[in-house]
Amino acid sequence: MCESLCPDCPLSRGSADALVAQEAPRSEPQVGVDPAGCPGPGRERMMAGPIPLGRNPAGLLALIGAPSTLAGDDAGVVRSAAKQIGLVLENLRLREERRAREARLARLLSYTMRAQEGERSRIARELHDDMGQKLTYLKMGLKVLRAKLPEDQAIAGLADNLRGVVGDSLEGIQRMAIQLRPPALDHLGLLPALERLAHESAAAFGHRADFQALVADNLRLDPDREVVAYRVVQEALTNVGRHSGCRHVSLVVEQRGDTLLLVVEDDGAGFDVAAVLGDGDPGRHLGLDGMRERVELAGGKLSIESTLGAGTALHAHLPIDGDR
Ligand SMILES: Nc1ncnc2c1ncn2[C@@H]1O[C@H](COP(=O)(O)OP(=O)(O)O)[C@@H](O)[C@H]1O
Ligand SMILES: [Mg+2]
Repeated sequence: MCESLCPDCPLSRGSADALVAQEAPRSEPQVGVDPAGCPGPGRERMMAGPIPLGRNPAGLLALIGAPSTLAGDDAGVVRSAAKQIGLVLENLRLREERRAREARLARLLSYTMRAQEGERSRIARELHDDMGQKLTYLKMGLKVLRAKLPEDQAIAGLADNLRGVVGDSLEGIQRMAIQLRPPALDHLGLLPALERLAHESAAAFGHRADFQALVADNLRLDPDREVVAYRVVQEALTNVGRHSGCRHVSLVVEQRGDTLLLVVEDDGAGFDVAAVLGDGDPGRHLGLDGMRERVELAGGKLSIESTLGAGTALHAHLPIDGDR
């Protein structure tokens, strides 16, 4: 304010405040003579108006000049300049608030995804160790019982059936445990786990699959990023199997400097990516959104290109090192 124009000037913030606090409505710039007077020529008069920001003014805009140069018309100039400054400040405040909100959401999402993976691991262990052991015990017990049963066709048949049911349940539990927490990721490492995923998915959906790795054999990412890579490829391959009707899918894992590139490409039906993502119903593309969200939270980028009748290619770039 005035201090910046002339260090000795008594037209201080206090006097401007007092001026605006006078009887007239606060939104109107006020003209007055500084009560202490002004030592500098041409600075005897001041016109000050509040800069609006929310409920409380953010500050004051003051014009200082000689009585002859500071006319009543200048009130309009002060008013609109103060309003413009208020709008700029308000926009800056809103932008800052939005940035903080987005950062909070990203942290929450990242925490939720990590918690979800932790919970999946726990359920997988529980299924495998607890339920799996008990069913194995039951199956063995039925085998022993069956050997000791009297030669009664009906009872022997029932015991065989029960053993069959227990065996199926065991397999089901094993499959579920693998889907919940890919043990291959922990035991074999990322590349064999991805290769296995491609072949298992192709066998389940009845198409051919190629796997190509252009990376160091012992490549490992930080564990969270490995889960991201695994889950993205898993969802992409599931989409290929469920929606593309392809004959062939290829999975390529390639190291490019500090980035790991994952490409899942099919020769199936293709789809209109923009139409699917822009259909206004987020519930219908949770898989695609989830992949993008995971990759971006890990500091990477995801893109999907698709041509109707020719197939779909998904590219996920993940940073190998460094902070997210
Ligand atoms: N590889 C693909 N080939 C053909 N269509 C696909 C492919 N991947 C995704 N889509 C289309 O995008 C839509 C959204 O996919 P997604 O978000 O994973 O949801 P969902 O798999 O549950 O339908 C799918 O319903 C399908 O129409
Ligand atoms: Mg899907």
